[in-house]
Amino acid sequence: MLKSINSSREAIREAMQQCRNGTLALFDGINDASFCKQAHPEFSPAGWHLGHIAYTEALWILERCAGLPPLFPEYRKLLAADGLPKCDREKLPPLLEVCDYLDTVRTQVLTYLKTAPLDEQERLWHFLIQHESQHTETIAFVLQLQRWHLWQELKNNNERLKVEEPSLIFTPPLEPAAQMIEIAAGEFEMGNDSVEAMDNERSLHQVYLDTYWIDRYPVTCKQYRVFMDAGGYHNPQWWVPAGWQWLQENSVQEPLYWSNDPTWDHHPVCGVSWYEADAYARFVGKGLPTEAQWEKAASWDATIKSRHTYPWGNTQPDPSRCNHDNIAGRTTPVNAYPAGQSAYGCYDLLGNVWEWTSSWFDAYEGFMSYPYRGYSQTYFDGQHRVLKGGSWATRPWSMRSSFRNWYHPGIRQILAGFRCASSKTLS
Ligand code: AVJ
Ligand code: FE
Repeated sequence: MLKSINSSREAIREAMQQCRNGTLALFDGINDASFCKQAHPEFSPAGWHLGHIAYTEALWILERCAGLPPLFPEYRKLLAADGLPKCDREKLPPLLEVCDYLDTVRTQVLTYLKTAPLDEQERLWHFLIQHESQHTETIAFVLQLQRWHLWQELKNNNERLKVEEPSLIFTPPLEPAAQMIEIAAGEFEMGNDSVEAMDNERSLHQVYLDTYWIDRYPVTCKQYRVFMDAGGYHNPQWWVPAGWQWLQENSVQEPLYWSNDPTWDHHPVCGVSWYEADAYARFVGKGLPTEAQWEKAASWDATIKSRHTYPWGNTQPDPSRCNHDNIAGRTTPVNAYPAGQSAYGCYDLLGNVWEWTSSWFDAYEGFMSYPYRGYSQTYFDGQHRVLKGGSWATRPWSMRSSFRNWYHPGIRQILAGFRCASSKTLS
């Protein structure tokens, strides 16, 4: 017993440090303006997220667990999630000062960890690693959004200036075939009750699904271009009423992270709202998968009637399995990772782009908030759709088939694409 507690203590320390290294790497060579500036009104500045990571760690470990007084009480108003509106978070201390704050908190946290009662607290420590992971992903995409805006401006200001796009890392062997996979009717286990699971993933429960078909790959840019060329953005026939209204208000004509360069043809569409994903799915006579349909295709192995944590099994994500953790810093072709297939043969379920589902974010039976109501429960409001799978910027600690992300259906800055599903055969 003591032995296993001490090995999980070591594993937690190791994960916290690895996670932190990746967080800080995103700030290499950053200037003050990108550190403080909001890239979009829905999202806080990159530097705010960095400070909030340390604030959260200090609150839960140093104040709540260790019973210490607040370290830098003057940061509370600025860095607490309920402190200031997002638009008032641009007045930040300089990067070096925020880094000092992170270091000071971390040193005390690691000292406390040496003797922390992990039998009671293990879940909290996993929560904090994943809290940092999720904020790091937001940092990665707000920084990419700034670069994207700059690049678009450059292109618009000088059409003849040939701005070079980052070169492809993988050359896909073949064009991914537009295939659907049959998932036979039956029960599977949905959710997760391991110590790493977030409150909204609990508990593990049985779900029965009728036979359905799901795309082997996420929808690619080349496939999506057919919808654009057919006037998909101008035809209300494909859009739910709220989506058509959203389209009129936002005058959107293409995905946010869109390029017509054919080298992107086999990359997944990235930067679409739920409304665009849903409209495309209707256009091809399909629909978005429910969260349960997505999760069964990702985690269930029907031949042995058992569930895996990841599509490929139970070994942790690594760069051979999927595009994650900023290893490529961008999307990759949807068929670049055969070693990441699920038992049913679906590709790219984890990593590359988040995938919109048709499901509203809601509680599973017996839900209990942890560690605070505002993590999940506040968002069970019928206004947020579930996304699954993780993107090229998702950290390994937040990647698993049961992980649930959620956003308003009109959000497109997150790194989201989708795949389609159907309750009948189409091909
Ligand atoms: C689950 C990614 C939507 O970033 O707003 C971070 C995660 N919750 N701190 C978010 C979260 C509290 C959340 N998302
Ligand atoms: Fe947070």
